[in-house]
Amino acid sequence: MPAGSVLFEPATGGLRGTLRVPADKSISHRAAIIGAISEGAVVIHNFLEAADTASTLTALEACGVSVDHSEPGRVSVHGAGLRGLKPPAGTIDTGNSGTTMRLLPGVLAGQQGCFTLDGDDSLRRRPMDRVAAPLKLMGVDIEASENRFAPLKICGGVIRAIDYRMPVASAQVKSAVLLAGLFGRSPSVVREPAVCRDHTEILLAAAGARIRRKWPMVKVYPVERLLLSELEVPGDLSSAAFFIVAATIIPGSDIELTAVGVNPTRTGIVDILTAMGADIELGNLRRYTGELVADIRVRAAQLSGVRVGAEISGRAIDELPLVALAAAFAGGDTVVEGAGELKLKESDRIRGVVDNLAGIGVDIEARPDGFVVHGGKAGKGRSGRGAAGGGFRSQGDHRLAMLGAVAGAASHEGVSVEGFECVAISYPGFRAALESLRS
Ligand code: S3P
Repeated sequence: MPAGSVLFEPATGGLRGTLRVPADKSISHRAAIIGAISEGAVVIHNFLEAADTASTLTALEACGVSVDHSEPGRVSVHGAGLRGLKPPAGTIDTGNSGTTMRLLPGVLAGQQGCFTLDGDDSLRRRPMDRVAAPLKLMGVDIEASENRFAPLKICGGVIRAIDYRMPVASAQVKSAVLLAGLFGRSPSVVREPAVCRDHTEILLAAAGARIRRKWPMVKVYPVERLLLSELEVPGDLSSAAFFIVAATIIPGSDIELTAVGVNPTRTGIVDILTAMGADIELGNLRRYTGELVADIRVRAAQLSGVRVGAEISGRAIDELPLVALAAAFAGGDTVVEGAGELKLKESDRIRGVVDNLAGIGVDIEARPDGFVVHGGKAGKGRSGRGAAGGGFRSQGDHRLAMLGAVAGAASHEGVSVEGFECVAISYPGFRAALESLRS
């Protein structure tokens, strides 16, 4: 086993118990960013304690926003007002966080002065022109390296309203346009080609912005001021998904995940697994500042392959690697298509998923916009061959590292994950959480 690898042994007795997964990453970023341009203090309870959301807080502090983060999970952002962010002397470091780098330009577009955003090597390889293009149409002075990549330089100014049809279904792009639209003189419109997460719309409305929605259109009206006082962030369904899949494919499992966000723009993974035959129950439904929250019970089940198309993959984009693993345990074939966006995540997740799962004995092939998994013979009562075991390489991608851990727990011989420490990007306590459920 290579040095620095972590071995995940088979969980032969199944997974059992109750778990509270960490706070939603997308909502934590947005709460801090919208809080920063609100009036007065915003107290965020259950803020995600992880590297990506720390990048957002540091970036906001660099722009002169005062942040009090003295207690874990409780962040108080002292809003600087709509146009109160100040350019720092140097570059703003957004680390590995795509959401920080793609949302902040929307807010910086309305400030005075110039700001430069940069990130780590992985973030520097990810396309930023998708955010720069609509902002340019709004009259923003924004420049990307080679017209495409970080660093991004943004100089604030007068914002022109637009009606923008997004070429890709990206919540980050939608959010950047909506945030910039707050600073316009007349309403801006964004149209999405497939459903993508709507946390920005929900939080902006909670902060008093006027948002009109009639899918596929979202309209944002200019505001004078935003006001957001206190909010609680639900658990992250993208983190919960690792345990939902683990409990589904490991025989004998029965777990409960409490207070998880189940916003319908995020629940593609629940729909896909349910269509495969999973036993997932959402109970105790309630709302935290407009966001739907549930306790989720998952019991082991026998699965069958499915076809996952573009219409659903936008609602499950971060969970599609887990669909590949679940498919290895399902009878028949699973086809995931319309998911070319996977190549543009923290790593190329089509290559990373296919190479890693093939390496532990899964029969999987890459497609230009997804993958095909041959689980085994189809038919009633049939299940897939599963995963034998072996080595997994995270390639610095937190979701691949956690995929390897779940694959190990579900495998016959265990999986050692090289570069496991990158889970700190979204879920620093992942290993302990998984161990706590072993029975
Ligand atoms: C996110 C949107 C998605 C997702 C990412 C978080 C967000 O990215 O993959 O992990 O918080 O808006 P895209 O906007 O590129 O689809």
